[in-house]
Amino acid sequence: MKHYLTVNDIDTLENWVSEARKLKLNPFQDQHLGRNKTLVLLFFNNSLRTRLSTQKAAQHLGMNVMVMNFSSEGWILEYGDGVVMDRGAAEHIKEAAKVVSQYADILGIRAFAGLKNKEKDEAEHVINGFEKFASIPIVNLESSLSHPLQALADAITISEHSDKPKPKVVLSWAPHPKALPHAVANSFVTMMKKLDAEFVISHPEGYELNPGLTEGIPIEHDQSKALIDADFVYVKNWSSYSKYGEVLSQNNSWKMTANKLGVAKFMHCLPVRRNVVADDAVLDSIQSLVIEQSNNRTFAAQLVLKKLLEDNFNIY
Ligand code: CP
Repeated sequence: MKHYLTVNDIDTLENWVSEARKLKLNPFQDQHLGRNKTLVLLFFNNSLRTRLSTQKAAQHLGMNVMVMNFSSEGWILEYGDGVVMDRGAAEHIKEAAKVVSQYADILGIRAFAGLKNKEKDEAEHVINGFEKFASIPIVNLESSLSHPLQALADAITISEHSDKPKPKVVLSWAPHPKALPHAVANSFVTMMKKLDAEFVISHPEGYELNPGLTEGIPIEHDQSKALIDADFVYVKNWSSYSKYGEVLSQNNSWKMTANKLGVAKFMHCLPVRRNVVADDAVLDSIQSLVIEQSNNRTFAAQLVLKKLLEDNFNIY
């Protein structure tokens, strides 16, 4: 069974981006694919873009959609094997995943990292639990470690706005008052490895991402050096990986300003804290691609759902 769990489920990024851009020109061309098929979306965390863009994508394909805020409306789930369930959890993932598989043809799951326990987060017990016990294709709507729909939308956006065969793309850490997960940055890095670009990661010391992911990619601790000749600047906060989940500094000298951005295009996955992560002057400038990135979330999701329908149900 084919799933969409990480950016590594994309075989040829160039083809996927090109296909998504074609869907964008004629979003209702595949209405027959989703006929009598149901997408269930389970949200263990909040969302604006993922929730609405994925629903819209499914509607473009003629699918029915059911959405549930699982953390507030579902039973607390147990993921462990052989556990005596005499505490908070009322239902085991084994039953929950099999039950949802009766109601859905494709299942989307959002379950963020808790940022308290690296091993637990890296085990991805929510999305992996559903993958293990469900009998239907799973789409990752952002898990502990990755946000592959966001990364695909970002690749589409870069392709639409790049006038060079090999643009310079900088992933630049930004300050934030709260500890944020690594998922967006992880998936952006993984996606950039598949793209023909000069890619640089810039962050203060101590904010190294998982070295297994960033191996071979230039890391520049001097943000001004990293930004020289940049074509795209993707700004994002993440908490420390080595001191897992900690906010080591809120050094606002890393905030993106119009001056630092120069002539580059500005990218961010949203939601963004204005004047903390980036100045109003950046977000309100014509160089900002954030709204287009959000729009491309629909076509990233539509392409993924289309492929899952085609590959898993032989519907063409
Ligand atoms: N970028 C993104 O995933 O937005 P939401 O958290 O609002 O879905």
